[in-house]
Amino acid sequence: MSKNSLAEEHEEAKPISEALKRFKRSRLVLEPSLGVLGFFLVCLCLLWSFFYFDYRSAAKRYNLSDKSDRFVWLKLENNKSSTTISSNRVGFLEESGDKCDVFDGDWVWDESYPLYRSKDCRFLDEGFRCSEFGRSDLFYTQWRWQPKHCNLPRFDAKLMLEKLRDKRLVFVGDSIGRNQWESLLCLLSSAVKNESSVYEVNGSPITKHTGYLVFRFKDYNCTVEYYRSPFLVPQGRPPRGSHKKVKTALKLDTMEWTSSKWRGADVLVFNTGHWWNYGKTIRTGCYFQEGGEVKLKMNVDDAGGDWRTGGTCHMETLPEIGTTSLVSSETWDQLKILGDALSRHSNGSETVKLKALNITAMSAQRKDGHPSIYYLGSLGPAPLHRQDCSHWCLPGVPDTWNELMYALFMKQEASSSRRVKEANVTVS
Ligand SMILES: *[C@@H]1O[C@H](CO)[C@@H](O)[C@H](O)[C@H]1NC(C)=O
Ligand SMILES: *[C@@H]1O[C@H](CO)[C@@H](O)[C@H](O)[C@H]1NC(C)=O
Ligand SMILES: *[C@@H]1O[C@H](CO)[C@@H](O)[C@H](O)[C@H]1NC(C)=O
Ligand SMILES: *[C@@H]1O[C@H](CO)[C@@H](O)[C@H](O)[C@H]1NC(C)=O
Ligand SMILES: *[C@@H]1O[C@H](CO)[C@@H](O)[C@H](O)[C@H]1NC(C)=O
Ligand SMILES: *[C@@H]1O[C@H](CO)[C@@H](O)[C@H](O)[C@H]1NC(C)=O
Ligand SMILES: *[C@@H]1O[C@H](CO)[C@@H](O)[C@H](O)[C@H]1NC(C)=O
Repeated sequence: MSKNSLAEEHEEAKPISEALKRFKRSRLVLEPSLGVLGFFLVCLCLLWSFFYFDYRSAAKRYNLSDKSDRFVWLKLENNKSSTTISSNRVGFLEESGDKCDVFDGDWVWDESYPLYRSKDCRFLDEGFRCSEFGRSDLFYTQWRWQPKHCNLPRFDAKLMLEKLRDKRLVFVGDSIGRNQWESLLCLLSSAVKNESSVYEVNGSPITKHTGYLVFRFKDYNCTVEYYRSPFLVPQGRPPRGSHKKVKTALKLDTMEWTSSKWRGADVLVFNTGHWWNYGKTIRTGCYFQEGGEVKLKMNVDDAGGDWRTGGTCHMETLPEIGTTSLVSSETWDQLKILGDALSRHSNGSETVKLKALNITAMSAQRKDGHPSIYYLGSLGPAPLHRQDCSHWCLPGVPDTWNELMYALFMKQEASSSRRVKEANVTVS
């Protein structure tokens, strides 16, 4: 079972030549897995902004902007960290919490965590069920994220489902996005008594690595969906007459084919980064295409890092709290460009709201949260030189990403109802 799902994603652990061969055979099947954490949401920002421009025009084309309560989240990361925790904090959802940067904080030990147990959740790939397949410590499940200047609301699955009633929440991205999506399915389904009222609409099992999976929560008429798109833009055959070293091309100014399926989503969560590196692009003959032209000179900064050699995270059982320099300065620079591009584009119309899940720093402190050698499920532990240090055990760090998303979502809901009230006051 794990052979056809996560095991596939662990190809990276094989020698690069082997991976390369395989890549040629089946592009888009490979999934990156071993990596330095700070690397995983590094985006090539120029490319990103191209995509981004296109997203805007496509959004127009698809009339994405006609519904004003729709948000888009781009998950990105940075290395800001905090060392102090102040004691009197306001609630983030209160009006006085408006200015609070929820991504600036620390991990604190909390015995009331985790929010679910992996064996109670049907929606997890074996590769994320670390403690069921050999990992002996459970410390990694008991850390809560504490913002420096406010308190997060506790995740309330029932309330979230209520707010999602008649809506679609869609994840688009790579296997890290899938990691977060599965976490959210576990979090939400923990509040649903009737197991059979949560199901994949096409009957596909979660472990089957199809292009997308759509889970419906029947009682709430809502769906929580995942679309696999490691680059967020399509990768395909290069135009006729391209240089012969060009095997495939990433079409920077085109929407992913699945975009027609996620159009109409009420909440969209994007993630990318892992794949935007030399090893996954130019090294394999994958170049960048704009319009009909393949740009041979366009480069991905190879930010380097452990991902090629596997990295090590085995036997890590504690986070690195209060450390600020866990993410490379290149990552930081790239994220800054991305952040700038985002704020430029968030400035225009209010119709599509963009928020960034700025989770680099917090995740970088959690070297204890990875599956390491326990990702092969029932096949047993992997050899030490094939560790997975880029995905996350569940319950674990992606739950926190979802708690933050929950907080932003609730904040949005609270402020729009406040606006309605204010409007009522003005009218009366
Ligand atoms: C988008 O909206 C405009 C005006 O609201 C309408 O004229 C157009 O037909 C819509 N396009 C699509 C593809 O729905
Ligand atoms: C991020 O890391 C880089 C180098 O590691 C450092 O120069 C920079 O100041 C850090 N930024 C923050 C906000 O900590
Ligand atoms: C379910 O939600 C969709 C929107 O996602 C809506 O069009 C439809 O009417 C809803 N169905 C019911 C039975 O409420
Ligand atoms: C549980 O959900 C299934 C599928 O929606 C439905 O057929 C069944 O009646 C539900 N059971 C209960 C006890 O509500
Ligand atoms: C992410 O957080 C850091 C530190 O809190 C901040 O400096 C940076 O501007 C943020 N980036 C974005 C895109 O919000
Ligand atoms: C947003 O737009 C306003 C007016 O159009 C401009 O003054 C402001 O500098 C812009 N902000 C950013 C971050 O671009
Ligand atoms: C605003 O006023 C309308 C009509 O008077 C009312 O139906 C609605 O519930 C009010 N909304 C809020 C949030 O008070």
